[in-house]
Amino acid sequence: MPDSDRDIIVMKGIDKSFPGVHALQNVDFSLLKGEIHALVGENGAGKSTLIKVLTGVDRVDKGTIELDGKTVVVRSPLHAQELGISTVYQEVNLCPNLTVAENLLIGRQPSRFGISVDWKKLNARAREYLKELGVEIDVTRPLGSYSVAIQQMAAIARALVVSNAKVLILDEPTSSLTANETAQLFAVMKKLRANGIAVVFITHFLDQVFAVSDRVTVLRNGALVGTYETSTLDAFLLTRLMLGRSITDLDEMKAHKIESSQHIRTEALLQADELGLSNSIDPFTLTLHAGEVVGLAGLLGSGRTEVANLLFGVDRPDAGSLTMDGKPVTDFTPAGSIKRGIALCPEDRKVEGIIADLSVRENIVLAMQAGLGWFRRIGTQEQYEIADKYIKLLNISTPTADQQIKNLSGGNQQKVILARWLAANPRLLILDEPTRGIDVGTKADIQKLVLSLAEEGKACVFISSELDEVLRTSHRIVVMRDRAKVTEFSGEVDETEIMKAIAGRAS
Ligand SMILES: Nc1ncnc2c1ncn2[C@@H]1O[C@H](COP(=O)(O)OP(=O)(O)OP(=O)(O)O)[C@@H](O)[C@H]1O
Ligand SMILES: [Mg+2]
Repeated sequence: MPDSDRDIIVMKGIDKSFPGVHALQNVDFSLLKGEIHALVGENGAGKSTLIKVLTGVDRVDKGTIELDGKTVVVRSPLHAQELGISTVYQEVNLCPNLTVAENLLIGRQPSRFGISVDWKKLNARAREYLKELGVEIDVTRPLGSYSVAIQQMAAIARALVVSNAKVLILDEPTSSLTANETAQLFAVMKKLRANGIAVVFITHFLDQVFAVSDRVTVLRNGALVGTYETSTLDAFLLTRLMLGRSITDLDEMKAHKIESSQHIRTEALLQADELGLSNSIDPFTLTLHAGEVVGLAGLLGSGRTEVANLLFGVDRPDAGSLTMDGKPVTDFTPAGSIKRGIALCPEDRKVEGIIADLSVRENIVLAMQAGLGWFRRIGTQEQYEIADKYIKLLNISTPTADQQIKNLSGGNQQKVILARWLAANPRLLILDEPTRGIDVGTKADIQKLVLSLAEEGKACVFISSELDEVLRTSHRIVVMRDRAKVTEFSGEVDETEIMKAIAGRAS
């Protein structure tokens, strides 16, 4: 059929402003039946906003939306669902305590004689829906007992079931999935495509764009750069389109790393001896030196975050000992750690990170202020200077330092949290997945920044699921598996050996 018959959604001349931000400028976007359409761009480019105006979360200022050839005004997310447009957000917003089946069919349980819930029917139906997506699990178990990937699938199944969707939108669904889980999600997306459903897929992983999408739309600074057949692009071209420039030379980074390794101090800054916590992490021994970046590699759930939490005092160990500057640590609390000069940029920033109603500036100076104690207030002038420094350094896209952080795009909120811990000027910086959700350009900038911090004499623990960035930034690599430290690599390391250690396969 001609392409115009395949159009399910046509957005024309979309304009959307927020105070101080022209988030979308005259953007055209079209979506075909039975295609997987990637939506990419730097943090703050306008991807989520485009989705929000399409799904009735935000109203457009100008422009039109056509669905199946007819102009529509999408009044609310519920209305969008009724129209057949379903969205799955990155944070799975289902109830972990309810069963999988209940989550899938909440609000539309089949009832017996109109009164009580027919559990048998409910479970059978849920099982059927999931099976259609290629997922065969016990639907009577609580959703929370399954992996994020399965939860993601349940969210997709619900989105499809509830609304009889023609369009499925996935906003950064893969950022906390393992490689296998991502593959599983892709299989589901392809299945939906084969059934004529249009899928919009937002991601910062360019390899995923190439792995699964048919077309890709690039946004930059709220404007449309273009829509392309994915097969006509490569990673280099796509990066150029997104950033309007090429990213940092990776060879240059390698040289930087080798050079900076000369400054690693020999005496231990922080020393963990058989440190452990039952049911969390097996006892491990780890030495951190000033001037050194130590990467923690491993799959999700391998125990990387547990190590970070012990070192920072989020959790209290029940085995082994920890010394800093040769002195035993007894006060295992985050406050105690901050006093000792340790900072942890946590993985789950929604829960542990942002304070939504505070401004970007207030969020940035928070840890620094905590380190000084609340009686020695940082002056307003100085707060602005610090905030502006990090807004520039991390390329945070915000109209002013006074913007409430909740109004920033996902990736930019993340950068603010990173800025908070950098501003605290710690001696040891623990970064748990610092580049998750961050665009490719800034990602490279952050990796570079980590190496410069080491050069200034700081110690750094760098946790990431992306092995190539661990390799690029770390002088030494610790591999975690099944909640235990399995081995360490230093010097010239062989990527395959590390991958084997991570997976636990014999070499
Ligand atoms: N409710 C709001 N109030 C004020 N500004 C907003 C609001 N929502 C979005 N913005 C701004 O609009 C711009 C686009 O944000 P959007 O969330 O669409 O970016 P994005 O492309 O999804 O980025 P990311 O990759 O970081 O998720 C950003 O500058 C953001 O700060
Ligand atoms: Mg977004």
